[in-house]
Amino acid sequence: MKDTFLKACKGQTVDYTPVWLMRQAGRYLPEYQKIRAKVDFLTLCKTPELAAQVTLQPVDILQVDAAILFSDILIPVEPMGMNLTFSDSKGPLLSEPVRDESAASKLRVVDADNDVPFVMEIIKILVNELSVPLIGFSGAPFTLATYMIEGGSSKNFLQTKRMMYQSPELFAALMEKITATVISYLKAQINAGVHAVQIFDTWAGILSPQDFERHALPYVKKIISALRTHKSDLRIPIIYFAFNSDAMLSLVKQSGADVLGLDWRIEIKDAIDRIGSEGVVQGNLDPCVLFGARSFIRDRAAHIVKGAKGAKGHIFNLGHGILPETPVDSAIALVNAVHEISSR
Ligand code: CP3
Repeated sequence: MKDTFLKACKGQTVDYTPVWLMRQAGRYLPEYQKIRAKVDFLTLCKTPELAAQVTLQPVDILQVDAAILFSDILIPVEPMGMNLTFSDSKGPLLSEPVRDESAASKLRVVDADNDVPFVMEIIKILVNELSVPLIGFSGAPFTLATYMIEGGSSKNFLQTKRMMYQSPELFAALMEKITATVISYLKAQINAGVHAVQIFDTWAGILSPQDFERHALPYVKKIISALRTHKSDLRIPIIYFAFNSDAMLSLVKQSGADVLGLDWRIEIKDAIDRIGSEGVVQGNLDPCVLFGARSFIRDRAAHIVKGAKGAKGHIFNLGHGILPETPVDSAIALVNAVHEISSR
């Protein structure tokens, strides 16, 4: 197996900067669309052979240095006791959102091996077939809580903040249940064979630093320490991606993750100055750069590769998921450019 990605996560010397793209499996690929034309998104997530096939598509097409399990952060929320659907226009929808004590107390803590066995089956298929490391993932508790409380995507996250501010004990009890679920979910993925995990905190950036420190960060820390003691000899790299969080980078660093994911709002060099030269970073190209000309994509990639030189390790990525409208050729060109520019 090509181990450049894992070496970079561990801060070891590499021959070139490894690259993968968030949401690299998905709608911008005609090969994905072909499968999605036959099955809906949730069925795709729950059919191991198809999910494995879709995971492999970008590895073959883009020649990225890591694969990411094809699934969704909301998959473990369904067995917690919520009704999950995906709408083409509105994204994920959870009916009967959790707004009070009685709804929260009905939620179960998931036992991942029993409740979402199909995820572990996808991983088992993939570890036999892949030539690059496989990244498992989960949503961070705060981001999962926003979907569970709002019932879907949101503009102001009023319901979430209302619960946080009016009923902090209820919010904390909900967060504890989600955290226990995430720990079970990630441990099961590690047991099934993933080589690294990423924790997605897409909505961390809606919080003030004070609220992030109190209502989100402690649960991420708890997950990371639970994973560190689990199979500690394996030393699985843990990546924490808190979107839109550069104003609280010093708090994000306290998570204890091996790798910090960065979005495009910060110069990668400035982020490294703040995290310290012992840090390993992942990122951070604006996904919209892929709509520019080849030479522009290459220049922007070179700027990031150069800016990351002071870090102990760098994994090239986008600053958020690749957009469905992205030309595939531009994504291929980006991966090539990163490999070429960074070769030493
Ligand atoms: O390639 C990969 O990155 C692996 C698969 C993956 C998906 N979702 C597939 C998906 C991963 C890692 C996720 C994470 C995820 N899901 C996040 C965190 C990352 C981020 O983007 O901030 C969040 C917030 C979700 C929740 C979610 N799932 C939303 C908001 C949506 C709708 C918006 C959209 O992009 O369509 C989804 C649906 C979804 N998840 C799709 C895919 C490929 C599109 C479904 C389809 O085929 O119609």
